[in-house]
Amino acid sequence: MKFKKIVILTGAGISAESGIQTFRGPKGLWQKYRLEDVATPEAFARQPDVVHAFYNQRRLELAKYRPNAAHYALAQLEREFPGEVLLVTQNVDDLHERAGSKNLLHMHGELLKVRCEACNKIFNHNGPVFSSTACPGCSQKGYLRPHIVWFGESPLFLEEIYAALKSCDLFVSIGTSGTVYPAAGFVLLAREAGAWCIELNLEPSAVAELFHEHYYGPATRVVPNFVKKLLALISD
Ligand code: APR
Repeated sequence: MKFKKIVILTGAGISAESGIQTFRGPKGLWQKYRLEDVATPEAFARQPDVVHAFYNQRRLELAKYRPNAAHYALAQLEREFPGEVLLVTQNVDDLHERAGSKNLLHMHGELLKVRCEACNKIFNHNGPVFSSTACPGCSQKGYLRPHIVWFGESPLFLEEIYAALKSCDLFVSIGTSGTVYPAAGFVLLAREAGAWCIELNLEPSAVAELFHEHYYGPATRVVPNFVKKLLALISD
């Protein structure tokens, strides 16, 4: 078996066939909304209830989506691969965990969590939030915010992710446009560390040329095929 430590990065494309809109492209979420209005700390300071309404709607819709074959294939890989598998997702949905992935880091936060800016605690939350909602921990009103990394904010778990990238021997990027940093730069770090880098996406990403190998097509087809091939190597 050639590989021992795998880091996988996923983006909105892996959840597209579950029905969740991606961000970019003609049908992307950022065509309908201006990210400056709903996904920056400045927007939240200016119009908290507009920002809450945007995330309340997305949180509400999450219940109707189901993990797809690509999410399940990655969970199977984690269960059956004899080495280490770390899944880093830019997605704020919970489809990876619902499919069974355990070693998972949500670098851009989670839709089903809120954070209190007064007491700094993070809470699981499945329902609407308003600027009048009291924090379940400190009871103060007006301090709860979506536990989402907005533009201009620092992604979560970066230290852990960089350490994993520096020591992995296989890096796989799935369903991401490669336009948002630092995630788009992970391939370069993995490459510098000597890892073999593979891109699985519907189309070449903005950083496609940095990968050694590419498979293009819908995630529900290319990801299960890729996992099957990788697991078949175990017996080699
Ligand atoms: N299968 C595989 N890939 C797909 C599919 C599919 N069925 N459908 C779309 N894609 C690809 C698109 O071709 C595109 O390259 O998924 C990618 C989605 O790109 P984006 O919409 O830019 O999503 P992502 O890369 O995850 O965005 C990164 O940007 O707005 C922020 O915080 C948000 O985490 C997000 C970050």
